[in-house]
Amino acid sequence: MKALIVYGSPRHKKSASYHIGENFANGLRRAGLQVDEIMLSKQKIHHCIGCFTCWTKTPGVCIHKDDMVGNLPKLQKANLIVFATPLYVYNVTGLLKNFLDRQIPLLEPYLVEKGEATGHPRRDTPENQKVFLISVAGFPEVSHFDALVTLFKQMYRGGRYIGEILIPGSEPMSMDDFQESYNELYKLIEQAGFEVGKKGIISEETRKAITDKTTYTEEEIKVFREMANKYWDSMELKDYSKIKLETIDIEPLKVTDSGMPAFFAGMAEIYNPKAVPGLKAVMQFNLDDESYYLIINEAECKAYKGSYSEPTFTIISPKDVWMKITSGELSGAKAFMQRMYKVEGDMKLLMKMNQMFSR
Ligand SMILES: Cc1cc2nc3c(=O)[nH]c(=O)nc-3n(C[C@H](O)[C@H](O)[C@H](O)COP(=O)(O)O)c2cc1C
Repeated sequence: MKALIVYGSPRHKKSASYHIGENFANGLRRAGLQVDEIMLSKQKIHHCIGCFTCWTKTPGVCIHKDDMVGNLPKLQKANLIVFATPLYVYNVTGLLKNFLDRQIPLLEPYLVEKGEATGHPRRDTPENQKVFLISVAGFPEVSHFDALVTLFKQMYRGGRYIGEILIPGSEPMSMDDFQESYNELYKLIEQAGFEVGKKGIISEETRKAITDKTTYTEEEIKVFREMANKYWDSMELKDYSKIKLETIDIEPLKVTDSGMPAFFAGMAEIYNPKAVPGLKAVMQFNLDDESYYLIINEAECKAYKGSYSEPTFTIISPKDVWMKITSGELSGAKAFMQRMYKVEGDMKLLMKMNQMFSR
């Protein structure tokens, strides 16, 4: 059995839809399918010009000699086609729409009855070829996919369309810093791929586990909007090298101190200046009744007890929550979504924290 996965994001492999797609493809492989892939972001495909030459003068052959020449036989041979696309204006991306249009040489011009409506017969395609849809979206409500699902059900009507995985609120999934927090979801997606490969359907149990992990409550949607808006605010390019730092005349904390002071001194020690080159910033941590801050001055990072007057970034958290996040026991992104801690100031630094404090 052959599967073909078509990736539609212009972001290539640094994309949420790729991460979902590749885990799904791994599951298909585990189920014994041979999986081929088409990365549309790496291909040159001219748009269809509607000349119908592929239906008249040269049946099955398009006038454009581009990457579609290699793609069409792959589409014809696959027993299962998986489309993995981000949602762009309630639809597939332009790259994928172009690709879908250019499949027209695989059809014959005649009009026949097809799944309760008129359609075209297909040329040399496995009789029971199935199609599965994977899509990711920026907005947090799953209803944004309604038109896309209708589109695929219509395109592949007559029993070819076998289902979908839809992940709303997926923008962080495209970012390297957030990959760890999606590990459990990725495992479930792999399992879904395995089940589709074996039985053509995702089990209720796996479906429910995926839905539980990717559905936002009304309250979470409010936090999601807040977090997204802070993120976009922080995207405004700041010149970190221009930030003026106060001179501090108290001694920095040392790793030989004990308890929280030693913990923050340790954080300062493992500071990685390559994460944000040239950074000058103050990170304030208000943990229950204790406060600490880190002053980052390019390659140097020092930790102090107390409060800084104008920190670049402040984390307000119960002490135990923050300790669980730093030890890796709790996902920082998930804890943030569940309002287990708050952040004020430059969110971009929050996203960079994994890289900033690792050896
Ligand atoms: C041109 C454009 C149109 C978009 N339209 C929508 C949309 O209609 N609904 C939505 O929820 N997100 C929309 N988004 C957001 C993407 O779906 C979101 O960023 C997604 O996570 C990108 O996935 P990728 O990393 O796989 O490319 C749009 C993004 C772009 C660039």
